[in-house]
Amino acid sequence: MKTKSFKEELQTAKRRSYAVGAFNIFNYLSARAVIRAAQKLDAPVILQTSTQTVRKFGPQELGTMLRQLAWNASVNVIVHLDHCQNVEMAKACMDAGWDSVMFDGSHFPLEDNIRMTKEVIAYARHRGVYVEGELGRIAGVEDDLQVDDDKAKGATLEESLYYVRETGVDAFAPAVGTAHGVYKGTPVIDFDLVKALKEQIETPVVIHGGTGLDEDTFRRLIRNGGAKVNVSTAIKHAYIDGCKEYIQNNPDKLDPIDFDQYLNCAIGDIVLYHIELFRRDMK
Ligand code: 13P
Repeated sequence: MKTKSFKEELQTAKRRSYAVGAFNIFNYLSARAVIRAAQKLDAPVILQTSTQTVRKFGPQELGTMLRQLAWNASVNVIVHLDHCQNVEMAKACMDAGWDSVMFDGSHFPLEDNIRMTKEVIAYARHRGVYVEGELGRIAGVEDDLQVDDDKAKGATLEESLYYVRETGVDAFAPAVGTAHGVYKGTPVIDFDLVKALKEQIETPVVIHGGTGLDEDTFRRLIRNGGAKVNVSTAIKHAYIDGCKEYIQNNPDKLDPIDFDQYLNCAIGDIVLYHIELFRRDMK
């Protein structure tokens, strides 16, 4: 079911002080598990695909599968491309029916990032597709994207305002100190930047690196204006750890449906936990 666009969902979330959960999926089972959990809470949800997943299936096959799942859902499901560094792939996904794309030009100098983001936005506008952009560099590993700690760079308020004004992105992902993957220590998060952006721009802010943040951090980020929160590593863990557990506990069972159901629950629990938390302070 499609009731609101990516932009409308995030604007509503920002206004009402909650965040839309954006979960990285990698196959039919994970996509379906995320949707079913969102349906239990009657909450909108964003299904994100990494570029690695897009390359594995191809935009047409993956897009068709996800659109169909979204269409049949009883809640609003947005299909989103995560961290795309390649303009041509972003365009291919838009053509194949993605609702929104993140163009990640954060590894380029600011003016090049702006120029490429604008090229993606120009293409998106004609197709009713929305665009998320990134500034600064978020540390950690996200599928085939890796940013070492010494290359990570926080976004500044001044550059953020400039980037958002120049590009006209629909959602903005500044590097605020969160990281992709599993946290090694306690992250140092720039809550003030998130709050200043909430007050100074209309564009909703996106928080990356959701896996492993504690409840207080999530709630503070969302109160300060985070309107979309990304969770990926926790979903992968639920899937892979769930596979190992099931096989260990049922070495002689030959029941693929039961196996899938186990993984569906494992992923569903992670999604339920995060969506409930992201909506706890909703006004
Ligand atoms: P995690 O893998 O840390 O949950 O981050 C997800 C993310 O930000 C995807 O873009």
